[in-house]
Parts: sequence; C-alpha cells; structure tokens
Amino acid sequence: MILVAGGTGRLGTIVVSRLVAGGHDVRVFTREPGRAQHLHEGSVEIVRGDVRDRQTIEPAMDGVTTLVSAVQGFAGPGRVTPESVDRDGNANLADAAANAGADVVMMSIVGAAADSPMELFRAKHSAEQHLRGGGTAWTIIRATAFVELWAEILGKAPVFGRGDNPINFVSVRDVAAVVERAVDRTEWRGQVVEVGGPDNVTFNELAAMLQEVRGTNRKSHHIPRWLLRGLAPVARQPRAALTMDTIDMTFDAASGRTLIADVPMTDLRTALSEALGQARPHS
Ligand SMILES: NC(=O)c1ccc[n+]([C@@H]2O[C@H](COP(=O)([O-])OP(=O)(O)OC[C@H]3O[C@@H](n4cnc5c(N)ncnc54)[C@H](OP(=O)(O)O)[C@@H]3O)[C@@H](O)[C@H]2O)c1
Repeated sequence: MILVAGGTGRLGTIVVSRLVAGGHDVRVFTREPGRAQHLHEGSVEIVRGDVRDRQTIEPAMDGVTTLVSAVQGFAGPGRVTPESVDRDGNANLADAAANAGADVVMMSIVGAAADSPMELFRAKHSAEQHLRGGGTAWTIIRATAFVELWAEILGKAPVFGRGDNPINFVSVRDVAAVVERAVDRTEWRGQVVEVGGPDNVTFNELAAMLQEVRGTNRKSHHIPRWLLRGLAPVARQPRAALTMDTIDMTFDAASGRTLIADVPMTDLRTALSEALGQARPHS
C-alpha cells in the first residue's frame, strides 16, 4: 500500500493516477475527502488527516510500505505555512513512516537550503535534514517551479516585479513520472534526485509564451517591486515574489540526469498547451 499525502494536489493527482495504473494499492491522505473526489472512484482509499496532527497520521500508516509526501504549505486553504506543513508536517510524516517501517519519497525543491532567502526553501531543507536523520529509507525529489502552476497564476494575475529574472520551469507531468519511479526503484533510496525543465525563462517570456499558446495578444501588467517591497513584511507571497524576481533561479536540467534519463523533458510550449486543455483538480 502506498500512502500519498498531498494526493489531491496538482502533482499528487497525477502521481496517484500513475501509481494506480501501475498496479499499486493507493491510499490518499487529505484534510478534506471532498477534495479527492476526482481521483479514481473506488480504486483509491481516502483517509482524512492533517500532517500537522501526528495522531491523524498513525492510523493512515496501516499496511503502508511507502509514503509519498507531496504536501506544501506555501499557499492554499487551512491557514497553512511552510513551517507547519513543509517543515513540521513532513517531519511528522517521516516519524510515522519510521515507526511503521515504511520508505519515504519526499517532494522538495531545487535550491532548498538552510540559508535560502525563501522560507519555503528553508522549510524544505529542514524537512530533508529530518528525513535523512530518521530511521527510514528515503528518496528526496527536488523539482524546479511547475510551469502549469505559473501559467494558471499568470492567467489571473499581473507579472510580479520586473519579470526579467530567468527561472527554471518544469512540467508537473515529468515530475510525477520521477516520483512514480522513486516509489518503485528502491535502489534510489538514500539519494536526492533533482528534476527541472529544458529552459530557464523569465516571467515576461513565460507570459508571452502563454499568450502565444492561447492565441491572445494582451499587454502584460506588472506589480512593481516597490509595491512588493511594501507588502513583503506582512505577507509571504509578495516576499517570495520579490525573491523570485531577484535571486538566481536557473537550473541546468540537462546535466546530472543519469538516474532519470528515461523521463521526458517536456518543452514548455507543449506543457502549456496540455495544461490549457485541462481543468485544475482543486484550488
Ligand atoms: N508547485 C511548484 O512549483 C513546486 C515546485 C517544486 C516542488 N514542489 C513540491 O511538490 C509538491 C506538490 O506541489 P503542488 O503544487 O502539486 O501542491 P498543491 O497542488 O498546492 O497541493 C498541495 C497538497 O498539500 C496537501 N496539504 C496541504 N496542507 C496539508 C495538511 N496540513 N495536511 C495534509 N495535507 C495537506 C493538500 O491536501 P488537502 O488540501 O487535500 O488536504 C494538497 O493535496 C509539494 O511538496 C511542493 O512543495 C512544488
């Protein structure tokens, strides 16, 4: 039995469907079972719980051989934070897996580091450290920014800041393919696998690409840096947006792919076209 925490999310939904198609028994851990309705009816077990509450995790571990963590607390419902979900929630999951003798495949982020200016990246680093120091066999998957998420954001909101900082974007489908392999490939235990997309592009370039794929030609608006700076002390999102507009967010995805040479590296236009044809499972 594979337990997928975050199985209702953008990545988790694809991971669940791939695992089911691959013949695995899958249980999805969610705070709200209604958010799992789009997952394979009947073929997936749904269990209610919250990674911030250890007591809800233990019963969900019954019979679990591998736990996949695809949770994030940067944004979303339920007053989540990177500290409570990405750091402490992942630590709770790792401890519960260790008690149950299950392996862990944990989603992290390229750039996770103790001294990162991004609180999410610091929280992921802390979760990685906890997992490495615990008593369970683990694989950490670090991904760059999901292009489908940013296409959705750029479809609704202006470009944050100047938008001229190159960023690596990856298709969530390629990341899901890596997560699925990590479940099956026990020879990856004790390894950090990094996955990114073929190009580093700026938000301005991504916004233009999105317009091209949609066949529209609207002028892009920007939220200026001075406004992001003003909001940064009180809100996480503008703080992160400002950082993404300034720090090095590039990634060389072509090198170091030995482990994942068989995973596609979808080009961004193809990923955007596919995303435009699909509905978001939940927001
Ligand atoms: N998006 C990116 O650009 C990106 C880049 C690199 C790495 N990642 C990592 O990839 C993973 C998937 O990201 P995503 O964008 O697909 O996420 P998402 O769509 O925002 O989904 C978030 C998931 O986290 C779960 N969750 C949040 N708080 C929870 C809590 N307290 N208890 C239990 N579950 C909780 C939600 O489940 P319920 O709401 O059903 O409870 C949901 O399934 C995350 O670990 C993320 O950090 C994402």
